[in-house]
Amino acid sequence: MLRINDFQTMKKEGKPIAMVTAYDYPSAKMAEAADVDMILVGDSLGMVVLGYESTVQVTLDDMLHHAKAVKRGAKDTYIVVDMPFMSCHASLESAVNNAARLFRESGANALKIEGGTENILELTERLTNGGIPVIIHLGLMPQSVNVYGGYKVQGRSEEAAARILREALEAEKSGAVGLLLECIPEPLANEITGKVSIPTIGIGSGRGCDGQVLVYHDLLKYGVDRLAKFAKGYADLNNIASEAIGTYVEQVKSGMFPDDEHVFLK
Ligand code: KIV
Ligand code: NA
Repeated sequence: MLRINDFQTMKKEGKPIAMVTAYDYPSAKMAEAADVDMILVGDSLGMVVLGYESTVQVTLDDMLHHAKAVKRGAKDTYIVVDMPFMSCHASLESAVNNAARLFRESGANALKIEGGTENILELTERLTNGGIPVIIHLGLMPQSVNVYGGYKVQGRSEEAAARILREALEAEKSGAVGLLLECIPEPLANEITGKVSIPTIGIGSGRGCDGQVLVYHDLLKYGVDRLAKFAKGYADLNNIASEAIGTYVEQVKSGMFPDDEHVFLK
């Protein structure tokens, strides 16, 4: 299994890091078999697995349930788990306790937390001191969709770009082991990647990040109808699955299934 120092080395040597999300045992197994460098148990599971409108409904228990299944499917891959909506905001103490529980019980290698505010940076320092590696998620933070009023590229204005850059530098100072940059313009992601010594993993943030992450269900076009501009479908499981299930239904109805091969004759 690659570890955090390996990712640092990959950054230094300019070797891109490939990350994909996974949410259960089979997705984790396939990601590991494909030799991904890191798996993210993203709270995107709320949308792509549970059918919610956003990640806001996802709970700590949801994250734990899915992260444990991922761990069972990918015992030999570096696993990052998302801290879900509002799990880090009530107080520093409750945030530390939530993070400790998720880290300990999931068997994750690191946690990912949205935001670069002072509170989150203080939390990052605490967790790091306690032995929990933190990846800070900057740019578009889906848990704040209701504050933004939609999913929009972040950091387009000069002030916003300066703020995100500042947050990135502060995150590194607070001990973060990596940055997740979502939906920011390529030049800003390149600037951040050049200015921090920790790896940057991008989604919708261009070609210059130290690594890339895609959502499993987007990558395979599995249960999602429309891909965002930055996502790329490498397969079409929607068609494969519905055709296969359709054939099964036809064969049951026509009496073709079960056939000789699939029954116990005695
Ligand atoms: O939850 C998730 O899948 C994520 C990625 C989009 C980075 O946070
Ligand atoms: Na997420």
